Order: sequence, then C-alpha cells, then structure tokens
Amino acid sequence: MTGRGQWWQEAVVYQIYPKSFYDSDGDGIGDLQGIIAKLDVLKLLGVDVLWLNPIYASPEVDNGYDISDYRAINPQFGTLADFEQLLGEAHRRGLRVIMDLVVNHTSDQHPWFIASRQSKDNPYRGYYIWRDGRDGRAPNNWGGHFTQSAWSFDAATGQYYLHVFSPQQPDLNWENPAVRREVKELMAWWLERGIDGFRLDAINLIAKAPGLPDNQGAGDFVFAIDHFCNQPHFHTYMQELHRDIFARQEMLTVGECADLTVADAIAISAPARGELNMAFLFEHTDYYNQVGKDPQKLKEILTRWQTGLHGRGWAGLAFNNHDQPRVVSCFGDDTTHRVASAKLFATLLLTLEGTPFLLQGEELGMTNVEYAAIEEYNDVQTVNLYRERVAAGGEPAAVFAAVKAASRDRSRSPYQWSAAPNAGFSTARPWLGVNPNYVEINLERELADPASVFHYYRRLIALRKATPALIYGEFVAQAAPAALFVYRRRDGDDEFEVALNLSDQPVAYTAAGELLLGNYPAPEKTRLQPYEARVLRISNCQLLIANC
Ligand code: GLC
Repeated sequence: MTGRGQWWQEAVVYQIYPKSFYDSDGDGIGDLQGIIAKLDVLKLLGVDVLWLNPIYASPEVDNGYDISDYRAINPQFGTLADFEQLLGEAHRRGLRVIMDLVVNHTSDQHPWFIASRQSKDNPYRGYYIWRDGRDGRAPNNWGGHFTQSAWSFDAATGQYYLHVFSPQQPDLNWENPAVRREVKELMAWWLERGIDGFRLDAINLIAKAPGLPDNQGAGDFVFAIDHFCNQPHFHTYMQELHRDIFARQEMLTVGECADLTVADAIAISAPARGELNMAFLFEHTDYYNQVGKDPQKLKEILTRWQTGLHGRGWAGLAFNNHDQPRVVSCFGDDTTHRVASAKLFATLLLTLEGTPFLLQGEELGMTNVEYAAIEEYNDVQTVNLYRERVAAGGEPAAVFAAVKAASRDRSRSPYQWSAAPNAGFSTARPWLGVNPNYVEINLERELADPASVFHYYRRLIALRKATPALIYGEFVAQAAPAALFVYRRRDGDDEFEVALNLSDQPVAYTAAGELLLGNYPAPEKTRLQPYEARVLRISNCQLLIANC
C-alpha cells in the first residue's frame, strides 16, 4: 500500500529548461542567475519543487543530456557558486530543487569514455558496452532513438560501442559494479550540496537484455525497445540505489520510464519494493502525440492508470515536457480556444492522483513554435534524422516537413516574459528562436489579467493544496458523452466532481454540486461550452441527512 502524507505526494513540480528560462548576462542563453532573478514569480504561482534540466558540464550535443563532468556546472549556465546561491535562495522561499540525473549514458567527451576507447585493456573499457561487429556490420540490429543504428564503429580498437541515443551519448555498462559505485558517489556528492532529489533520465533503459539479442522485425535496424527497456535487472539496480542512497534521507525520486504498464509502474513505486517514489506516465501523451486527438482514448488511458495505481503505487503526471509538443497545441486548440483549452489541461493535471509536473510556459498557455528552415532547429533528433533521410535520397522539403512536425524544439522556445524584444528573455539573439506570439502571450500580460491562464493555475494549485481529496481521493469515472471527461475524487465524506469538455462544441451536462473553480465566466446550467472545465464540490447531504 502507498501511504499518504509524503511531501512529494503533495508537491507541485515546475520544470525549468534552463537554456530557455531567463538570460541574465546577455549571451542569448538562459542561466542560473536568471533563475535566481525569477524565483519570486514561481513562488507566487505556488509551485513547491523546481526540476532543472541538466546543467552539468557538457558539449551540449543533446542540450546537456550528454554529460562530460557530473560534478561541474556548464559555464554557459554559471558556476557551482551560482548553483549554491540558487539552492539557498530557493530553500529560503520554501522551494525545493531536484536535479536531472543522466546515467544511462555519458557524453563521449567524458574522461571515462575517452579512456575507454583508447584500448581494449584500458581499465575504463568495461564502463561502456563494446562488442565486435558481425561480418563487418553492427553487433546486432538495434535501432537508436536518434540514429538508425544504436551502434557506432570506433576505428581505434576496431569494435562497436552501444548508444541508444546519439553516437555522442555512449551507454554506460550498469553490469559493471564500478559504474554503479561511481553513480552512487556522484549522487551522494549532489545530495551533500543540499539538493532535494533526482529526476532519473531514461532510467529504465539502463539494463540491457543479457547477450544483447537481435530485435524482432525486418530491416537492418529495428527500433524496438524490448531488449533495452524494463529488463528485470533494472529493478535490481533501483533497489541497490535505494538501499545505498535514496533511503538515507527524504527526497523526491522520479524515473523517466518509457513503455510502462500499470504493473511496471507499481513495481517501481510501491514503497515496499524500495525503488523510486514515482515514475512518469507517458501512455496518454504518447497516444495523443503519436496517434491522435481522441477524447475517448484519453479518458480510457487515464482512467485505467488512475484506478490501477490508487493505493498501490504513485505517478508523476505531466501533459507537457521538453521532449513533447505543448498539449494546448496538440490536444487543445491554440487559436480560437487557446485560453480555455490551456485552463482545461491545467484542471486535468491538478485534479488527478499523482504529483503534477508543469513545464515552464505552460502557466502562460505558451504554444508550440515552428521555424522556417532546418538551420533554425537545434534538437539533435530533428537534425540527425534530417541528415540521415536526405543522405538516403529523401526530398529535402518533404523530409523537413516530416522532421519538424515531430521536433522536440516545439516546446523548447524561450520563456515569454514580456512584449519586449526577444520576449524579454534576453538582450541578445536567443539560442533558439522565440515564438512570434510573445507579443500577446507573455507573463507581464498574464500577471495583469485576473482571468489569465497564470492566475487560473495559481488558484488551482492553491485549491489542490487545500483539498486532500484532490491529492489522495479515490478516482471514480462518471458516465458521460464521448467528448466529456467527468470524474469524482472521493476521500471519506469529501467528494469533488471534475467536468471537462474535450471538444470545441457545447455538450449537455448538468452540474451536480457547488462550483469551486471553472474556466468560463458565465457557466451554463445544462451544458459545458467548448473546452470548459469545472471543479465542483459535491454536497454529501444524502449521506449525512442528519446534518443537512
Ligand atoms: C530523455 C530526455 C531527453 C534526452 C534523452 C537522452 O528522454 O528527456 O531530452 O534527449 O533522455 O538523454
């Protein structure tokens, strides 16, 4: 059984993408002093925890997810002293800070890998996964996330090394106890600095199937994660980290885990197993990002997870992150109904069971960005795929259209602070273009408008915190027309109803309780307007007749 009352269950987490948050020194790149300068507005919003995307020393092939020194800050963000100041300033305001821990792989510029590739008998050789080729080809048919093959040949020693992501992100060999020892040491080092936990990047990929067998399927390289995802050893490794590191003190630990079933998520998060506090859920975002906008399917997926995890495990919930498009653009309506649909997804995020994670800019209703040319894109996945497909004979305009439609840069554009040049993000040309809609969508305007998306998030966060039923209550889906998602959260005698219209048409609905919060100024009695969201308190008079 999962208990209740842990701070990380009640917290709301705010994801900062440091490169795009706020540039304090005019080089076009966000930095740690920029975060310090803006802490008060995050406090005003009411969030409790800041998750920083990687800020370690890195050649930045994948925006910091390629670490070359785990104990150093990337100079583009500042220094260790800046980090310590940030931590102190955050803690002083009651904000906690968690680090992004990237230990499925390192950068190819990490000293371990530089040593490892020197010779077959180098002591660091076994830190990575090296194999002989098969008849002059890769050791197996595994496809990568960012390249066709998950293997690269290294001429110096005539062997291939495994990289599930880019060739500059070689996978660590977790079978090697020395690797696990190093990881635990660096975690302990950051905890000694005073951080409050970790987001563990791509963590359920760390254990590879013994013998590295071929994936099933035709073609040279088959992208199927069956042999490097959720392997039994993954749980063993998490239990080891828990025993040696996580159990030492209270902290938030959340795993970025692809392809989970409810049972996997319980195995990761059930306290008795001693692994992580929670895993992120991706089935709903994967569905609407990759398959389509289908309210019925969204309801089915979320209902299955809510009922499956309740009392058994815990989840990290998000509708946005730095790898995915913004939900207001891909499931909501970022033109006519932008404000209503941004508020609707806020309502969904903050009234389900699970720790809510917001991506910076979500609280402004920021939308996906699109650039005119491949040169304006930064995402390694976009750029690699473009190159590979054009080199294979693809027509450049068609390849560009396809890769930009899936680019992770869509949600990474700079934070829109104001209508000033560069959205008030920087005085220099930003490292990634700002969304031209910053003139209308920006924090300054949001703060000035009591009906803004920002103030709606602020009220919702406050409501969630004051309402244990919205955090711990049992989730009960209510019968509703296809476009409506209606559910209750019950905790003892407290009961709340959430009603959401996931379409751009009005739909019949009769409110059953007292309206606490909604995204329309004049809610109608018998229908929900396009993308309308309501949170209601259900009167328990029938149950407590004596008190009514
Ligand atoms: C995770 C990160 C993503 C990164 C990848 C490789 O999925 O969220 O941004 O590219 O891991 O580290």
